[in-house]
Amino acid sequence: MGLGSRAHLVAGLCGLLLGLGAAMPVPVVAAEEEKPYKVEDGKVDQGTYNGYRRYGASCLRCHGQNGDGSSYGPSLVDSLRRLSREQFTEVVINGRQNITAAQQNVMPAFGTVEDVVLYLDDIYAYLMARADGAVGPGRPPRIGG
Ligand code: HEC
Repeated sequence: MGLGSRAHLVAGLCGLLLGLGAAMPVPVVAAEEEKPYKVEDGKVDQGTYNGYRRYGASCLRCHGQNGDGSSYGPSLVDSLRRLSREQFTEVVINGRQNITAAQQNVMPAFGTVEDVVLYLDDIYAYLMARADGAVGPGRPPRIGG
């Protein structure tokens, strides 16, 4: 195939894609990021509920009741308003240490802890729901149970 015909083909494809784009309706909610949790009538989906439980088992002792922080660990409700999903995952998997003469703040690495790694999506969903104010303190009621 000569250069000319290839250029022609590319131009044709672009035209086709542009045509398709023009024909497709633009979804109104496209700009709004999809939430990792679901809340209906104050009740949360299974994943978010599981995240609440996993948070209680693995994170609460340092990050406090409801993710609000303690004297040792920062409030994750605040952190999640600022951190990207990637940054969240990075810290939880690899841990982080902030050690100075005045303080020894250690976030353990959870990369080899199955109960955390397998359910990180759920923990994230719960904490995002807390950060967005969609879920209050305490054990959230569950959709369908
Ligand atoms: C042994 C105590 C401890 C446990 C358990 C713990 N963390 Fe942490 N975590 C910390 C400390 C301390 C920091 C702050 C580290 C620093 O100052 O850099 C931190 C930082 C973080 C950060 C970064 C916050 C920010 O604003 O940058 C995230 C996210 C986080 N933890 C998530 C979790 C999750 C999720 C769990 C449970 C799976 C968990 N942590 C369990 C002590 C803990």
